[in-house]
Amino acid sequence: MRTYGLLIAAILLSACSKPQSRPATSQTPTAQVHGALGQIMRGILFPNANIIFAAQSKNPADIKPAADPSTATDALQSTYGGWTAVENSGIVVAEAANLLTIPGRKCGNGRAVPIDNPDWKMFVQGLRDAGMKSYQAAQSKNQDSMLDAADAITTACANCHDKYRDKPGGDAARCI
Ligand code: HEC
Repeated sequence: MRTYGLLIAAILLSACSKPQSRPATSQTPTAQVHGALGQIMRGILFPNANIIFAAQSKNPADIKPAADPSTATDALQSTYGGWTAVENSGIVVAEAANLLTIPGRKCGNGRAVPIDNPDWKMFVQGLRDAGMKSYQAAQSKNQDSMLDAADAITTACANCHDKYRDKPGGDAARCI
């Protein structure tokens, strides 16, 4: 009798907690823009590229974890530090390439990020490849491979900056 009562309670509970069904459209997650292009650059690409660059001169395996790695703000000294941090930065750079393809993002001068330009797409692919190359180099824990990977990152950043950022006309001429 007791088990029976519990069973009914369980059925009632599961019926209550069932999520409301909504139309398919509102459940489809779509990419959304939250920041300007410069914020992606300064907040994601800059710090992660620096972690990749750091692995050229200092072997990440030799980096001592922070006193409390779980609250460390230097990724290389955190719980996910050393070579793992470098692997993660490679992946983050490759994933951040996706953020450079979402429509609706603006450059600092108010122009739309030129996501449809063929050379923009090529530079984004270059960034993606350099990110994955860094990931693989970090997985191999080989500093010679890291030198090549860091070089690929520098080139990928510079290729796009030469065309879209470092313009003689200054900020107003960016993103064209
Ligand atoms: C596909 C093009 C593209 C790639 C690839 C790219 N950037 Fe940028 N970056 C830009 C543009 C355009 C701006 C200027 C943004 C603005 O003014 O709104 C910029 C701005 C910046 C800034 C801010 C400084 C400034 O003068 O505004 C930093 C830092 C930066 N990028 C770092 C990087 C790093 C590091 C990489 C490589 C890991 C990289 N970027 C890859 C296009 C790119």
